[in-house]
Amino acid sequence: SSKRLYRVAAIPGDGIGVDVTEAAIQVLNKLAEVNGTFAFEFTTFDWSSKKYCERGQYMQEDWNAQLKKHDAIYFGAVGWPDIPDHISLWQMILPIRQQMNQYVNVRPTRILRGTEAPLAQLREKPGDLDWIIVRENSEGEYAGQGGTTHGHTKHAMATEVAIFSYVGIERIMRFAFETAKARPKKQLTMVTKSNAQRHGMVLWDQVFYEVAKDYEGVVTHDKMLVDAMTVRMVNRPESLDTIVATNLHADILSDLAAALAGSIGIAPSSNLDPTRSCPSMFEPIHGSAPDIAGKGIANPVGAFWSAAEMVRWLGRGELDETADDFMRAIENVTGDPQTRTRDMGGRADTKGVTEAVCREIEKMC
Ligand code: NAI
Ligand code: MG
Repeated sequence: SSKRLYRVAAIPGDGIGVDVTEAAIQVLNKLAEVNGTFAFEFTTFDWSSKKYCERGQYMQEDWNAQLKKHDAIYFGAVGWPDIPDHISLWQMILPIRQQMNQYVNVRPTRILRGTEAPLAQLREKPGDLDWIIVRENSEGEYAGQGGTTHGHTKHAMATEVAIFSYVGIERIMRFAFETAKARPKKQLTMVTKSNAQRHGMVLWDQVFYEVAKDYEGVVTHDKMLVDAMTVRMVNRPESLDTIVATNLHADILSDLAAALAGSIGIAPSSNLDPTRSCPSMFEPIHGSAPDIAGKGIANPVGAFWSAAEMVRWLGRGELDETADDFMRAIENVTGDPQTRTRDMGGRADTKGVTEAVCREIEKMC
């Protein structure tokens, strides 16, 4: 047939990453079946903390070549209590982001129907929170430069060097302006800490204003120091739209954003290679949640929203309506108290929510 085939590498990882990835695959296959113009071929990689314990490595030697055979990567979560988190991060997530040229991390945040936002303002007007956080994903504070001297003694000294390059800043700023331009408000807020960090952050500001010139009259922009930004996110959420920040700052701000939106279990994230020379990676922002792992009660909504973002990306503009339908199906499910998981105040389990979303997809397409 003339169906478009998308090859997706699935990495379920650890804990609830396994449950929500299985759920996402089920829902994506349903979406493709109902839509009829495309299909998915999933290859599952069992790269996990369990494998690390067995063979001393998360991924296989040829992981880079393996992943490059795919159009996209779908990722669950990685990390387990017996293994220091920097090992799982530096042996899997960060190498993938870096070697797959995924220099942008995009985190949309809004309040899905049925989520209880902690702020009174947002419970009354959920529409006041509708943001896209664009995170620099390749350098900055997570560049990995630094070292330790006199380790394991009281004279231990360690450096953690942040790297900001002109090229690295310019490309993230351009992506952020383009993202802002494509949204109704056409508004970009740049986050920095250039009062205290006077080299890298000052370059960050400078490049922002240079790129801003190309968007004069098209995108309005302003600048915030990161500490003041946390206050604005809480007190005046409606004053923000698209936000661009460094690797560390955006990591923290996007967790705050997810909390303000009501649940860590619903938030998605996309690691993009805008040049499309490597596969981009889609994952819920939550971790492996060891406290509820294996119980079948994880909220799969963050995984579904991430899957919807993957569909949008793979479609290159041609599957936007399908992704929107998918999001509507998800919100019909979160909007119904019968089909909410415990973290959203309901009693449904992962399987129940997944089946409900599949039914909604069948109804709407
Ligand atoms: P976490 O996100 O796994 O869990 C935090 C809390 O939120 C827990 O109480 C958990 O039960 C709850 N929660 C998270 N996702 C949920 C969902 N989908 N449904 C219902 N409840 C949910 O963060 P935590 O506990 O700090 O980290 C656990 C492990 O996950 C660590 O090893 C950490 O390094 C790793 N991690 C991995 C990430 C990734 O793979 N991208 C991101 C964050 C953490
Ligand atoms: Mg984080």
